[in-house]
Amino acid sequence: MPIVRNKKIEVLFTAEQISRRNRELAEEIALGDLNDPLVISILKGSFVFAADLIRKFHKAGLSPEVEFISISSYGAGTDAGTPTVLRDVETEVKGRDILLIDDILESGGTLKFTKDLMLSRGANRVAVVALLDKSMKRSADINADYVGFECPDKFVVGYGMDVSHAFRELPFVGVVTGDA
Ligand code: IMP
Ligand code: MG
Repeated sequence: MPIVRNKKIEVLFTAEQISRRNRELAEEIALGDLNDPLVISILKGSFVFAADLIRKFHKAGLSPEVEFISISSYGAGTDAGTPTVLRDVETEVKGRDILLIDDILESGGTLKFTKDLMLSRGANRVAVVALLDKSMKRSADINADYVGFECPDKFVVGYGMDVSHAFRELPFVGVVTGDA
């Protein structure tokens, strides 16, 4: 079991499993009906997933524009659970087909807020890809069009996901199980 920052980490999804799934997702998305998509990575948690997925897009024959939006759901002076835009996209989304990339779909609050924001700006359609889906935790009326893996009801780290900004560098997704 890997030990990082003096914590034992149980691996849930290996780097190899994620890489294989990313290639499949890219192929599914390329075969889908998004027209000249504007891909938007939701920061910060999705930055590793987005970086890997967009390079699989190249192999799958997709050549999208790629943008970033920073959404805060927790802390940063907001009411708990009320998402806010910390840094917006620079691209006009009116009339565009959008693909939102996020790390985890949990309650769905973050993705529902971001999807509704893009639709309110006149996006033609908004599709969602999430690496992990904690579908048992859903409270908002949203689902992902593309999902990497169903995720158990555990707080996961790695592959961009953090506890207090740590563990993002792990090439796998895991759970902190205790002190080493
Ligand atoms: P939602 O708004 O409840 O769907 O929460 C989604 C966001 O919460 C994700 O984009 C993550 O940034 C964060 N999040 C939810 N579950 C986890 C987890 O297990 N580990 C790390 N971040 C998480
Ligand atoms: Mg996030």
